[in-house]
Amino acid sequence: MKVLVVGSGGREHALAWKISQSKKVKKIFCAPGNAGTAKIAENKSIAANDIKGLKSFASKEKIDLTVVGPEEPLTLGIVDEFEEKGLKIFGPYKISAEIEGSKLFAKQFMKRHKIPTAEYRTAASADEARQIVRSGEIPYPVVIKADGLAGGKGVMICRNEIKAEEAIKTIMEEKKFGEAGNKILIEEFLRGKEASFIAVSDGVKLAPFVTTMDHKAVFDGDKGPNTGGMGAISPSPFISKDLFNEVVKDIMFPTITRLLEEGRKYKGVLYAGLMLTAEGPKVLEFNCRFGDPETQPQMLRMKSDIIDVFMAAINGNVLDKEIKWSNKASGCVVLTSGGYPTQYEKDKVIEGLEEVEDSKDCMIFHAGTKTKNSKYYTDGGRVLNVCATGKSLKEAMDRIYSSAAKVYFEAIHYRRDIGTTKEEQL
Ligand code: AMP
Ligand code: GLY
Repeated sequence: MKVLVVGSGGREHALAWKISQSKKVKKIFCAPGNAGTAKIAENKSIAANDIKGLKSFASKEKIDLTVVGPEEPLTLGIVDEFEEKGLKIFGPYKISAEIEGSKLFAKQFMKRHKIPTAEYRTAASADEARQIVRSGEIPYPVVIKADGLAGGKGVMICRNEIKAEEAIKTIMEEKKFGEAGNKILIEEFLRGKEASFIAVSDGVKLAPFVTTMDHKAVFDGDKGPNTGGMGAISPSPFISKDLFNEVVKDIMFPTITRLLEEGRKYKGVLYAGLMLTAEGPKVLEFNCRFGDPETQPQMLRMKSDIIDVFMAAINGNVLDKEIKWSNKASGCVVLTSGGYPTQYEKDKVIEGLEEVEDSKDCMIFHAGTKTKNSKYYTDGGRVLNVCATGKSLKEAMDRIYSSAAKVYFEAIHYRRDIGTTKEEQL
C-alpha cells in the first residue's frame, strides 16, 4: 500500500511512524511533513489545506489511503473531495467535521440531545456579548470563546468584567482570530480535571482508544495562556473503568448516533475534550481528528496494525475489541520555542538531538523542525516531542525528562511537571 499522511506536526510524525510498522505498507508520503517524517516517509511540499494539490498528488501517485492529521482540511471538505474521485481517505465528511469547525453547532447539538456540557449563551455582536456578560446570567468566571477554528487559542477564561471586555474586544472587534470571531460563545466555567477521550468510528460503531490527559497551559502548574498542548500522558489517571464506560455510553455513542440521525454520518476520529466535574463528565469541545500531542503517547501503546483500524472505519466494520493496547504507561513532553504560543523565533540550531534519537529509552517525534546542511533547526512553536513508555507513569516520565535534558536550542522551553498528577490513582 501507498499511504499519504497530511500534516506536519508531532501527531503526523507519530501516525507515520505507526503506519511504517505495518507490513501492508510499502511507501509513505507526508504533506508537507517535517524533518522527522523525512526519515520514514517522502515529504511533499503540499500544504495541508491545499485540497486540490493533495487530490491531484494522490490520484497521480495512486495513493491507496490518505490519513488526515489537522482539522482544517477536514472542515474544508477534503474527505468529500477525495471520495468523489474514488480515493480512499480516513476522516469525517465536511458536514460531520462541523462538530469541531463550529463551536456553536457543537453546543446546539449537545443541548438538543442532552449530551452533558457547560451552560452557554451566544452573541453575534460585541454589544450583545457585553449585555450577556453584564446580565450575570452566567456567573464569573465566564469562559469566552470564538465560534470558529482558532488553533486551541480562541478560548479565554475571564474572572471579571474587565477581562471579559478584553476578550470580547480581542475576538469580536480586533478580530484576532479572523472570521472565527464573527460569533462568540459565553460559557459557564467548569471545574475539574480535563481528559481527552478519543475513539474511532465507522459512523455506527465505535472503538475507544486508551485515555489520555493533555496539559494545555504553557507553564508549570497550569499557569499562563493555553497552547495546542505542552505534553500528554496515557492513560489518564482520572478515568476509572466505570467512568470510561459512562463516557462511552452517555457521550461518545449518543454523539455518533445522533449525528447519523441528523444526516451527518461520522466516520473517523471523534475526540471529546472532557471536564471531569463533580457532577460527572462534561464535554468542553469536540474535535474531528486525533489529538496533538495525545496521539504521540497513544501510538506508543497501540499494538494493533493501525492500517486495520483506518480500514475498519472506512469499510464500516469497527470492532471495539480488535484494537490491542500495551498495558504500559506512556508520556510526551513538548519542547517549544520560548514565547510560544504568542511570539517566538525560528531557525535556531538544535543540538544534542541525534544522540537522543539513537537511544532506546525514548522516542522523538518531530513537529516544527527542518534540516539545513545536515543540521536540525527549529521551524515552529512546538518543536519536538520527547516520548517514552514505562512500567509506571513515573518510569516513562523519568526517561523522557532525562532525554529532554540532552537537547538544546536557544530559548528552549518545556514544562517540567507533565505527568506529575497523583500516580496512586492509576
Ligand atoms: P476548547 O477549545 O473549547 O476545548 O477550550 C480550550 C481549553 O479551555 C480547554 O481545554 C479548557 O482548559 C478550557 N475551557 C474551555 N471551556 C471551558 C469551560 N467551560 N470551563 C472551564 N474551562 C474551559
Ligand atoms: N491537544 C489538544 C488538541 O489536540 O486539540
